[in-house]
Amino acid sequence: MPAPVSPGPWPARLDLLQSATGLFLALFMWLHMLFVASILFGTDAMWRVARFFEGYYLFGRSLPWLVSLFVAVVFVLFAVHAGLALRKFPSHWRQHAAYWRHMRGMRHGDTTSWLAQVVTGFGVFFLAPVHLYLMLTHPELIGPYESADRVWSGRMWPLYLLLLLLVEIHAGVGLYRLAVKWLAVGDKARMRLMRLKWGFTVFFIALGLLTLAAYVRLGIEHAPHAGEPYLPTWQRTLS
Ligand code: HEM
Repeated sequence: MPAPVSPGPWPARLDLLQSATGLFLALFMWLHMLFVASILFGTDAMWRVARFFEGYYLFGRSLPWLVSLFVAVVFVLFAVHAGLALRKFPSHWRQHAAYWRHMRGMRHGDTTSWLAQVVTGFGVFFLAPVHLYLMLTHPELIGPYESADRVWSGRMWPLYLLLLLLVEIHAGVGLYRLAVKWLAVGDKARMRLMRLKWGFTVFFIALGLLTLAAYVRLGIEHAPHAGEPYLPTWQRTLS
């Protein structure tokens, strides 16, 4: 019998790259949620956050291409992460059958959560690029009225609602699986991690729903003037 061919170091390297891109994206998603939620503190607060990322407070003027640049980096990491994940999808019916048999036999949360990861990842793969493309090509249209108009008058809210649920479950399960995989924790710590994961997921979904509701409300109010940019209150009183 011929000697088995060694796969070499590449499968492990690709696995590490998938974990690293996943870690970055999941942590980015949580930060992104906190920034987007600035609308809950008022329209001026969200305006300041949006201008901050355009370098307004550093360069004295808005440079929206800075946002495009960052979106491009996120887009590339997203594509790399998704491409690497595709390697692990069961592609043949035999693999599917083996997985389902295994899942039913094991009845273990970590095996079942892998399926949740595949299903939510598949959804995010289709929905996120729509949002990313808009952010990449129109970074200057990020602001209280601009965003609210996109959410309501631009009819993005159904996509955001679905994306929010999918991405928060995906990020939560992903971070949990990363911790279990690379920190090699015991059963007790695993249970604690699982509870922590649920805590974060519920918190970020609740925050996301509240935030989306705030954009929808503002979007409905502003619909008759959709397309008009936001002016912060202190600039309005000056002009
Ligand atoms: C650097 C890249 C990104 C930027 C600059 C960005 C920016 C924004 C902004 C400004 C909003 C408010 C609504 C709007 O203006 O349309 C928003 C909402 C949202 N974004 Fe992103 N985003 C980025 C990446 C992502 C990614 C990668 C995902 C998911 C995979 C995502 C998911 C969402 C969701 C679900 C909402 C709705 C949140 C809610 O209010 O519940 N975003 N994003």
